[in-house]
Amino acid sequence: MERIIIDHEDVLKMLDEWMEKRDGEWWDHFYHDHARPIPFFSNVPDISLAKWLDVSKITPGRSLDIGCGNGRNTLYLAMQGWQATGIDISNEAIAWAKQLDSHQQAHYQCTSLEKYEDHPHTYDLILDSGCFHHIKPHRRQDYLTRIQTLLKPDGYFLMTCFNMKEGAPITDEQVYLDRSMHGGMGFTRLKLETILTHYFTILDIHEMEATDDPAYFGQDFLWVILMKQKEETTHE
Ligand SMILES: C[S@@+](CC[C@H](N)C(=O)[O-])C[C@H]1O[C@@H](n2cnc3c(N)ncnc32)[C@H](O)[C@@H]1O
Repeated sequence: MERIIIDHEDVLKMLDEWMEKRDGEWWDHFYHDHARPIPFFSNVPDISLAKWLDVSKITPGRSLDIGCGNGRNTLYLAMQGWQATGIDISNEAIAWAKQLDSHQQAHYQCTSLEKYEDHPHTYDLILDSGCFHHIKPHRRQDYLTRIQTLLKPDGYFLMTCFNMKEGAPITDEQVYLDRSMHGGMGFTRLKLETILTHYFTILDIHEMEATDDPAYFGQDFLWVILMKQKEETTHE
């Protein structure tokens, strides 16, 4: 049947369908074998998260881990006293997270951020470790405004995403020419700042510390960005 474009959402849906698939089923396959040598197939937190919690002395509140995978950061937050929720589009990832969380210290839900329902301004901390670099450019606005809505006015948004050492060196335009995110987009500091300052105030941006310490995940091919809501914005 001929596609008829009526509104912006129809354009976005067309682009979704046009692109290489990276849906829940694709990620289910990715997570199926837990023994694969994938750096984040471990049960330790990001070194950046653990150190920031320690140094900031932030009082534990409610946290949301977007694209939580096997829940390693969600569970760490719960163990630090946070009321922690992890969401992911992969059933396999959520099943693994529930298995690792044997004392049921956190909550997990199989859903995308875009479909996740909760009250506005609920979270003191929203974490994204490795999800944003998979979000297609035409869906960034939905993704980031959803985070603005869910974050408390004085909440923090801590993101980790590919820099140019490991992420695909592609432009936003190239994504559509190739119909692919090439396994995750690499960001220059300038590109990240240009996108993120449209939505948030950036408090800090640095390369993740690489570490061999088995208690932490630390790789220097990732950016760590700490953000807050912009002063003037209220999102309902
Ligand atoms: C690179 S993995 C990172 C997993 C985990 N945060 C970690 O660091 O171990 C990216 C995850 O994001 C999930 N994901 C991708 N798009 C998503 C979306 N729109 N909403 C929620 N999760 C998503 C994938 O299923 C995948 O588990």
